Amino acid sequence: MTEQLEHLLAQPTPADLTLHFAEPISARIHAHVLGIIPELVDDFVTTVVYGTDGHAKHEFGRRAIKARRQSPGDDVLSDLIASDLTDDEVLGLMMVLMVSGRDSVAYMIATSTVALFTHPDQLATLREKSDLMPTAVEEFLRFGAMFVGLFPRTATEDLEIDGVKIAAGQTISVSPVAANRDPQRFDDPEVFDVERDAFGHLGFGFGPHGCIGQQLARVEIRAAISALITRIPTLELIDADQLRVQPFQHEVPTYRAGKVLVSW
Ligand code: HEM
Repeated sequence: MTEQLEHLLAQPTPADLTLHFAEPISARIHAHVLGIIPELVDDFVTTVVYGTDGHAKHEFGRRAIKARRQSPGDDVLSDLIASDLTDDEVLGLMMVLMVSGRDSVAYMIATSTVALFTHPDQLATLREKSDLMPTAVEEFLRFGAMFVGLFPRTATEDLEIDGVKIAAGQTISVSPVAANRDPQRFDDPEVFDVERDAFGHLGFGFGPHGCIGQQLARVEIRAAISALITRIPTLELIDADQLRVQPFQHEVPTYRAGKVLVSW
């Protein structure tokens, strides 16, 4: 975190917090947890995080697996290699994991910063009561959910939810953005309140296919936001793409982090 703060502080202001803080944190921690050897991390950032060539990404995946096979460690890739999966299965899973959640963590760090700096009373509360941080992270995820729709679910039997009939075989998709602002579940849902009990939000989805990276994501968001608000007391939000209507980022509708310009 210190290295990323120093990197941000070395930029001329206004600096883009998404580019110089949120994205590098999520990319480097993701690489470390997955087990990309340190010598390949810069290549991971160029080829996988910012690259657009699918073939080059696959080639990178193969190199990352080969390197880890030669020097196993305590990481996801080493566990996959040691399992009874075939090489193609390890590569397939690695390709999914290299992209899953990485930009979501960056998005949440950027979004949480925008939410706090546009609600100065909440920022002051969090600076004063740092033990609120775990609660606040749940509120960041409720208030700023990135996924407009979850991965669809298909009913295996006829059922009824809240008066709505769903027939066996019918596919439905739930929107975390809408569910997180459901007034039957959250009082004053449009209010951003770092002291509320926001647990039970759908920012990470729910059930057997809920997000497998959610505990890692919580730790990353907590560490990044704590570092920002405690170690740069003069931090100011100058402008953010998120303050205006933004196009969706992917075909699976998700919001974009966009530029978050800050000064200090
Ligand atoms: C703030 C960060 C993150 C957010 C907001 C997020 C959100 C989500 C959501 C909404 C889903 C769909 C859940 C559902 O349909 O019920 C999901 C699934 C998933 N996430 Fe995350 N995620 C984050 C971070 C991560 C990280 C760090 C990883 C990996 C290290 C990850 C890996 C996955 C995978 C593999 C799935 C698919 C699970 C399945 O289909 O069984 N996510 N995530």
